[in-house]
Amino acid sequence: MRQHKLALCRNHFPDWILEQTQRFIDKYKMFTKEQKILVAVSGGKDSLALWDVLQKLGYQTGGLHINLGIQSEENYSNLSQQITQAFANKRGLTLHIENIEEKYGCSTPQLSHLASRGKDKPCAVCGLVKRHTMNEIASVYNYDVLTTGHNLDDEVAVLFNNVLSWQVDFLKRQSPVLPAKVGLLKKAKPFCRFYEKETAAYAILNGIEYIEEECPHVMGSTTLHHKELLNALENKSAGSKLAFYLKFLKAKESLFLNLDENLAPHDLLFTCPNCGQPTPQPGNCTFCKVIQKATLKLAE
Ligand code: AMP
Ligand code: FES
Repeated sequence: MRQHKLALCRNHFPDWILEQTQRFIDKYKMFTKEQKILVAVSGGKDSLALWDVLQKLGYQTGGLHINLGIQSEENYSNLSQQITQAFANKRGLTLHIENIEEKYGCSTPQLSHLASRGKDKPCAVCGLVKRHTMNEIASVYNYDVLTTGHNLDDEVAVLFNNVLSWQVDFLKRQSPVLPAKVGLLKKAKPFCRFYEKETAAYAILNGIEYIEEECPHVMGSTTLHHKELLNALENKSAGSKLAFYLKFLKAKESLFLNLDENLAPHDLLFTCPNCGQPTPQPGNCTFCKVIQKATLKLAE
């Protein structure tokens, strides 16, 4: 690992991942062994490795897999579900499965198509569906904290994008841990300081089977393009991604010190009268509006 000036053998590398994860959980005050942790598992290497690590560290966990109904040659969503289910069954873990098509009458890409008249890629609606479902399931089953498998490459790509367009409000909220708010549970990203290749190496060394295929809608996305640019930077100068992220977290403390919390437009001050989740505007939340629009279109 040039970025850490460290080389480890196949026996010591997994132990290092466990120790480092515990260190990040403690450093950012993510959660404790007394709390119930919901792990959002997509079937990819990061979230399955995260679930494996949290189990080994002795945390009380349950998994949530959302079947988004995304089709591909490999049948992306159904294969992701099968892999996640096999992982949980092998270890006797609790897994909640939410199938969007069964629940709302159409898949996530269909919801997006109907709600946006087919203009947009489904990624925005997909993000909305995931956030809503994660919050809903955590609240129904009384989980204390939601964890996702976001790695350093994901976090740095988001940071880069937000810096390019100076999205002050998003920058302010980008953090390894987000505190609970009224109606929203605490969120944590214990893998946010691991490079993607480190989580992949952990999954492979532990014999974790994961879906290698990327979501077919990721192709041509801005995030993918930014990840390529950042990889080129990392190849020239090892450790630059980690430094960019860690120095941002440090700078954030003084950068946003004087911003008035109440002025943040994304603050969730209202409650959706339909689903009860928080929303930044009065009236139905964006998720409920998408479902209602799609249902109306389907009925036409
Ligand atoms: P992504 O937004 O696809 O980069 O995924 C980031 C994180 O969100 C993953 O590491 C998972 O923790 C979670 N996630 C993504 N897709 C799903 C899904 N279909 N079901 C449950 N969790 C998911
Ligand atoms: Fe949501 Fe690709 S995972 S559109």
